[in-house]
Amino acid sequence: MADGFGRLAYAYEGLERTVFGDLLTRARNACLCALEEADTILILGEGDGRFLLSLLARLPRAHVTVLDSSTGMLGRAQKRVQARLPDAEARVSWWHRDALTAPLPSAHYDAVATAFFLDVFPEEMLGPLTAKISRSLKPGGRWLVADFAAPHTLPTRRARLYSRTLVALMYTFFRAQTALPAKTLVPPEPFLRACGLEPVRRESFRGGFVYAQVWRKAFEGES
Ligand SMILES: C[S@@+](CC[C@H](N)C(=O)[O-])C[C@H]1O[C@@H](n2cnc3c(N)ncnc32)[C@H](O)[C@@H]1O
Repeated sequence: MADGFGRLAYAYEGLERTVFGDLLTRARNACLCALEEADTILILGEGDGRFLLSLLARLPRAHVTVLDSSTGMLGRAQKRVQARLPDAEARVSWWHRDALTAPLPSAHYDAVATAFFLDVFPEEMLGPLTAKISRSLKPGGRWLVADFAAPHTLPTRRARLYSRTLVALMYTFFRAQTALPAKTLVPPEPFLRACGLEPVRRESFRGGFVYAQVWRKAFEGES
């Protein structure tokens, strides 16, 4: 499995802070309270462990499975937990897997979280991937998504211009550095709705450029 993001693992946090300050951290953590009832949580594409650390600190009962295709990122995340919250490590399972091909247990998790992860995939991969992730959620389960909004969905011309410029720069950079499969940002909402999920909460940041959204999986027969 190619470790596309591995070479960025050490620089990732610094790069992010240089470009966005604490914006992405605020978005990742904005809706954490919506997962408070969850005992079993799957994080896909966790990255360097900052979101994981917040989750473990906030949800002291939860068992968290962390799936990432990068050994570099997983190593950073593991070190971060060992250094900052060593007692919580027993509650974490580390999965070095490709989310596109890894089998996931059916109706197993109370919650899943994808922060700045769905933006990695082009449209033709997003459908099957979101369907698989959704199947792994229990009915009534929550899916926390934090990501960049697609520029065309933003309300003002200025916001669209700002977003279009930054998104183009980010995709150029990440495609050169990580062999990112996506060429541009695809809004995941239609795919999540097609999986029987409904949005229950949304927080927007910097004029809607970045958002955190919680989706809920319907129970069978629920309209
Ligand atoms: C853009 S980074 C986001 C990291 C972090 N979640 C954040 O909020 O910044 C994407 C993460 O997804 C992982 N990733 C990319 N493609 C993947 C795949 N097919 N399967 C599993 N993980 C993948 C990368 O290794 C990286 O850690």
